[in-house]
Amino acid sequence: MCGIIGIASNKPVSINIINSLKKLEYRGYDSAGLATLNNNKIDEKKCTGRVEELEKILFKSPSEGNLGIGHVRWATHGVPNEINAHPHSTEIVSVVHNGIIENSDELKKKLEIKGLRFKSQTDTEVITLLITEALKKYDPLESVFSTLKQLKGSFALGIIFKDNKNIIIGARRGSPLAVGYAQDEKYLGSDSYALKSMTNKISYLDDGDLCVLTKDNVEFYDEKKKKINKKIYNLSDDKNTSEKGDYKNFMSKEIFEQPITAKNCINEYIDSLKKDINIYNFPIQPNNINKIVLVGCGTAYHSCLVAKYWFEELTNIDVDIDIASEFRYRKLKFNSQNLYIFVSQSGETADTAAALDLCKKNKVKTCSIINSVESTIARNSDWVLPIHAGPEIGVASTKAFLGQMIVLYILCLKLAKSRQDIEDKDYQLFLERLKLIPDAIKKTLKIESSIQSMAKEFIDAKGSMFLGRGYSFPIALEGALKLKELSYLHAEGYPAGEMKHGPLALIEEGLPVIVIAPKDKYYEKTLSNMQEVIARGGKILFISDYKKELINENVRFGVTVPFLDNLLSPILLTIPIQLLAYHVALLKGCDIDKPRNLAKSVTVE
Ligand code: AGP
Repeated sequence: MCGIIGIASNKPVSINIINSLKKLEYRGYDSAGLATLNNNKIDEKKCTGRVEELEKILFKSPSEGNLGIGHVRWATHGVPNEINAHPHSTEIVSVVHNGIIENSDELKKKLEIKGLRFKSQTDTEVITLLITEALKKYDPLESVFSTLKQLKGSFALGIIFKDNKNIIIGARRGSPLAVGYAQDEKYLGSDSYALKSMTNKISYLDDGDLCVLTKDNVEFYDEKKKKINKKIYNLSDDKNTSEKGDYKNFMSKEIFEQPITAKNCINEYIDSLKKDINIYNFPIQPNNINKIVLVGCGTAYHSCLVAKYWFEELTNIDVDIDIASEFRYRKLKFNSQNLYIFVSQSGETADTAAALDLCKKNKVKTCSIINSVESTIARNSDWVLPIHAGPEIGVASTKAFLGQMIVLYILCLKLAKSRQDIEDKDYQLFLERLKLIPDAIKKTLKIESSIQSMAKEFIDAKGSMFLGRGYSFPIALEGALKLKELSYLHAEGYPAGEMKHGPLALIEEGLPVIVIAPKDKYYEKTLSNMQEVIARGGKILFISDYKKELINENVRFGVTVPFLDNLLSPILLTIPIQLLAYHVALLKGCDIDKPRNLAKSVTVE
């Protein structure tokens, strides 16, 4: 959840460090800092708030030096203030860290007994002091190795040394770390996105790896200190998707580019000439799949929940779903004929990555449905199905959620066809309808002005409720999550049928209740749940794919999305709830792309 950058160069590095930190700010933005080596001294500067605050400090007091590290923080240990900001330095070493050191208190006590004093409340400062102590006996590389052996928990580290002005040492365990290559410059970064403006040649450290960078060379070591080689990837150039263009923020850009997202995703998988889906290299033969287990966090989990309904409807495969942070600690009965599917936009979510690791340890087949194909989860999966959504910068996931659902639907269709759980004529019909999605999304986006009117109903409300059944239940959950994470208003997502089992008590005069009711087998039942809400004074905002004169004094607002078929309804019903959360947050003046307390990639537990 923090961002790390390191640069070893033949020219001053502070400007490139700042520019890279700006690209990393989506990972965490409580505070920022950098340290460069200048005139044989560690020159550390840091501040609370955004990178632009650090930039102002550098304008007044420039940081010289051709080697340095930088950091944007999402606080885990210690409040977001200047002292707790990274880097954490002594006179001879400076460290930036992403992750959580689980035994930091125990190590801190040992160091304090030795007479060392701490300035901050962070776990990272323990690393700094351990390396400082080790440097009394060892060289930098050995000092880092001896320190890492004492650490429990996760880390991605960038480390510089006063007395070794040419090297940056990086180390990775559980939190992602990448290396970039350019002429007379080498880079260390939390992810390739931060390095893309300087290079498209990237290597990735794996857990236990360590690297030593100079401006001319990079050496890699495994956890046994054995020298290893790392593959250099040539990254695709996503320049167009990493800028806002004419949009006021990334989230609105990513919502409105969803017709393209859907088109790209569908075109990647559907062969219109062969009228078939281009998915072949299954890790388990489709007819031999005993069970599918779908795992993710947050919005990615909601796409798993939608997919469960699809697999149940179209295949005879038993399907289970789980939240990754629960899955990873369960006492699971693994089966070699189960296919474990991990859904993740970033591919770096710690809980999802750990859940995947658990499956690999149990030697079962894994698949990842992913946006970042160079990510840890992608590289550790037996089988990768990219969503081709391009970099998603807004912390609230929109186009990636859409892409996840589309790929899960395509996978479900392919498995259903391969197992002959559906007939070819139905398969062809589903494929034809799927191709109508991009235009249907384009039409749906035209309801924005109605959604803007709806948004006003939330500003003074003490909360809200999102209700759905079947395919719409996960969309109700996603709508509540979007509203919470963007506008900081309390919102509940519930199966409509559950209301009488308790949540109805929340309904009071004027409470906004968003009822998501496509014209499917649940429609009438959802309408009767809606009546229960109206009878208690709830203010209904109605979202459907069925135009019916429902708008009266009780149904305050209604929007209708195009109808393609019941299976595809969750994909289209997602658009109104994304727009609703966006406009409520806009009315409230919240930060759209970087909401408080959140980060785009949760790389710690
Ligand atoms: C999305 O709006 C949320 N910010 C969050 O729930 C996110 O979906 C979750 O953290 C999983 O992230 P991932 O898809 O990168 O694994």
